[in-house]
Amino acid sequence: MSTVTSSCSLLPQFCTNDIPSSSASKPYRFSANPRICRIRCQSTSTDEKRNKSRNALDNVSNLLTNFLSGGSIGNMPVAEGAVSDLFGKPLFFSLYDWFIEHGSVYKLAFGPKAFVVVSDPIVARYILRENAFPYDKGVLADILEPIMGKGLIPADLETWKQRRRVIAPGFHTLYLEAMVQMFANCSERTISKLENLLEAKDEIELDLEAEFSNLALDIIGLGVFNYDFGSVTKESPVIKAVYGTLFEAEHRSTFYIPYWKFPLARWLVPRQRKFANNLKIINDCLDGLIKNAKDTRQETHVEKLQQRDYKNLKDASLLRFLVDMRGVDVDDRQLRDDLMTMLIAGHETTTAVLTWAVYLLAQNVYG
Ligand code: HEM
Repeated sequence: MSTVTSSCSLLPQFCTNDIPSSSASKPYRFSANPRICRIRCQSTSTDEKRNKSRNALDNVSNLLTNFLSGGSIGNMPVAEGAVSDLFGKPLFFSLYDWFIEHGSVYKLAFGPKAFVVVSDPIVARYILRENAFPYDKGVLADILEPIMGKGLIPADLETWKQRRRVIAPGFHTLYLEAMVQMFANCSERTISKLENLLEAKDEIELDLEAEFSNLALDIIGLGVFNYDFGSVTKESPVIKAVYGTLFEAEHRSTFYIPYWKFPLARWLVPRQRKFANNLKIINDCLDGLIKNAKDTRQETHVEKLQQRDYKNLKDASLLRFLVDMRGVDVDDRQLRDDLMTMLIAGHETTTAVLTWAVYLLAQNVYG
């Protein structure tokens, strides 16, 4: 049984069992026929039983969590994890095991932290929409604040209300229509890349998550701040910095000691130094784009902004909209936080959805 290469916690649990392929250790496979793609999903162990035995550290960790978080919550099942479950494989795999064991809402006890893990869409809607205000973002805001500042996700309620009112009108019909066209153009680049690879060889192997990740990055860059990362076809320091930052954000979300808050960590710990450098590269890039947008500002009312000819505009981005909006003199730092939030929030999520979609389609084809 092979192991999964992805570090993304939202990715599917791939299975080779029902997919005919002679090379079980290789991730994805396309045939030379341009219309038919044979996709083989890389597997992680679905059969292998999770090692249930816990060591002293796990027991201390679970005791500590229960003590600090007040034990059980009503009838909610408690998944007491083995600390080792958090390392060496995407968190999703352990979450999935516990989901099978405990159902769609359970409390996860880990070290000083306790989480309630929700996989039920009705419960998620209740928490996120119908009854959102009693909940705060907890540890997520803590982790994301150094990256997103006061962007919509980690923002305090006052900032959130104010920025949400300003940003939401940016997602109007003409913008969305223009974006769909841009999605198609970017997807064409990915398709051409795959077709070129297929022309050179009978069969190719691809990490589709990486391909979708590049596609999503190109799309979010163009849609939000009219910047073409071009990551489907090239590498650049900015692209590397984005991936480095995402990687660190994910690592922080699964690591239960907030090591990034230790004094001097930024200067002493190499990975923190790298993270700070990456953040600087992205921030410099965003600052440049904001400056450029402000230098070419054409201030007007929201209604007029929403009527622009988005399909033919050179710059149809959300940044352009936010900068041009009359009566909203937002400071550069807030704008940067807003853009960074969209960049991070809109990238890995869509990558995971696309990867899942292909996985499920592949199951259907071969099932
Ligand atoms: C299928 C892909 C996506 C999924 C599954 C997803 C999921 C979510 C979820 C669950 C939240 C709520 C987080 C919370 O309140 O704690 C959220 C919020 C948010 N997402 Fe997404 N998202 C996706 C795509 C995007 C894209 C493409 C963008 C950017 C254009 C984006 C930007 C945001 C922002 C700004 C928020 C905060 C909204 C607010 O609090 O007002 N997301 N997303």
